[in-house]
Amino acid sequence: MARKPLMSGNWKMNLNHYEAIQLVQKLSYALSKDDVEAVDISIHPPFTDLRSVQTVLESENIPISLGAQNCHAEEKGAFTGEISPLMLEKLYVTYVICGHSERRQMFGETNAEVNAKVKAIFKANMIPIMACGETLEQREAGQMEAHIVEQVTEGLAGVKADQVASMVIAYEPIWAIGTGVTATAEDAQEVCALVRATIGELYDSSTAESVRIQYGGSVKPSSAPELMSQPDIDGALIGGASLSAEDFAGCIQYRLAQ
Ligand code: PGA
Repeated sequence: MARKPLMSGNWKMNLNHYEAIQLVQKLSYALSKDDVEAVDISIHPPFTDLRSVQTVLESENIPISLGAQNCHAEEKGAFTGEISPLMLEKLYVTYVICGHSERRQMFGETNAEVNAKVKAIFKANMIPIMACGETLEQREAGQMEAHIVEQVTEGLAGVKADQVASMVIAYEPIWAIGTGVTATAEDAQEVCALVRATIGELYDSSTAESVRIQYGGSVKPSSAPELMSQPDIDGALIGGASLSAEDFAGCIQYRLAQ
């Protein structure tokens, strides 16, 4: 079965809730019926914008899924400043990013924590977008492959095959995030194929064929068509370009340029 592409906009710590509403409305005008039929789309605003964005999506019937950028692995408790998966579920969040490299690097998130989040997201009936990716030093030292296999293996420990089949993995080389440097389509394809092969080893071939794998790292309307034509790339996780309705729509419309 063909995998439906998923184009996700990771807004990071940008846009207050007024700005968020404006961007969603602009985006909805920029997208055609064909666009929303051809690809799944998710947007991942900051937590403080979620309720406002959800209200606009619902009241205007905009076929974009709501996403979050992170969550805590516990359902509730004394975790000052954290957000529970159940709170996100209540807001009709569909996708939750976990293990983004910025969270790993700046907030010390480990594979074990990412794994706990993946399970918690499933438990709350949402879909994880689990990110993995190597640094430039790791790539240059020939450690990319081992690092990616380790992140995928440890991130998915104890996760069931049918869950993995329904989830999303984002390959984001750290050296390409927010730098304007996109991995070549061949490099991106090579690592996305490695992620799929790893899942084939850990589970089975039908699970590997079902999981959606995104590429992320400076994706732009100009680079999206070639990236998306690769056999193991099923979507993109887009940061900077998702803050402009025009650019995000341009990425979503990659097939018009193919
Ligand atoms: P970028 O971010 O598109 O700005 O490189 C991608 C990401 O971090 O998800």
